[in-house]
Amino acid sequence: MGTQTRPPAASTDLSNARMALKRRSRGARPRDIGCGEGRVARDLKALGHNVVAVDVSPTMVDFAKAADPSMKVLVADAARLPFDDGAADLAIAFMSLQDVDDMPGAIHEAGRIVERGGAFCLSIVHPINSAGRFESLDAAARFVIDNSYLEAHRYRDVIERDGLRMTFSSRHWPLETYFRSLQSSGFAVEALTEPTENPESVAQRPARARWRRLPLFLDLRARKR
Ligand SMILES: C[S@@+](CC[C@H](N)C(=O)[O-])C[C@H]1O[C@@H](n2cnc3c(N)ncnc32)[C@H](O)[C@@H]1O
Repeated sequence: MGTQTRPPAASTDLSNARMALKRRSRGARPRDIGCGEGRVARDLKALGHNVVAVDVSPTMVDFAKAADPSMKVLVADAARLPFDDGAADLAIAFMSLQDVDDMPGAIHEAGRIVERGGAFCLSIVHPINSAGRFESLDAAARFVIDNSYLEAHRYRDVIERDGLRMTFSSRHWPLETYFRSLQSSGFAVEALTEPTENPESVAQRPARARWRRLPLFLDLRARKR
């Protein structure tokens, strides 16, 4: 139901992952879940880490492999990861968990593959964003929730950029469902931020001013107990 919720393709805020890896400048074992064309995995690899990336879409995996043939990229469902228990010291799911069919199953799998003391960093479309929509593009537009924030539901976003029309098929889950899934998978949340447009980005794109009033995204870092 959201309109124009997705980030510019170039934005990659890896601060949570960097924080999770701060004790190791190289040689960590991150797993990128829902890697798309692999931008985040490439950034982690450039830092010297032994990243393995997965995506359910063979097309996206082909793009990721083409961008870096030396990177290990596998076709796999986030809810059935091809990794051993405790194989990773970091799982990262950047803008992917709202797109997987079985989000609780995907978080459970992250809990299985991340070793004790390891971290899970995720970035999602903020649940308040996916629950409703602005009535117009005005800076003062009312934000309305037609259905329910509390009930999970599917939604679609159609985004046009650089002459390309893209349809994102996603699921709204309330924040509590994410939190409970993390908790029951052995994770304790240690950092949470609600990124949105800032004055500089609105100065460049004034039509985005309404997003100064609500968070676009939710970034979270959890630690495996
Ligand atoms: C919005 S894209 C984000 C891609 C990448 N993480 C990035 O930030 O550029 C979401 C990705 O999640 C993948 N995805 C959706 N369902 C999935 C699933 N069940 N298991 C693994 N990946 C999935 C999609 O194919 C898509 O590449």
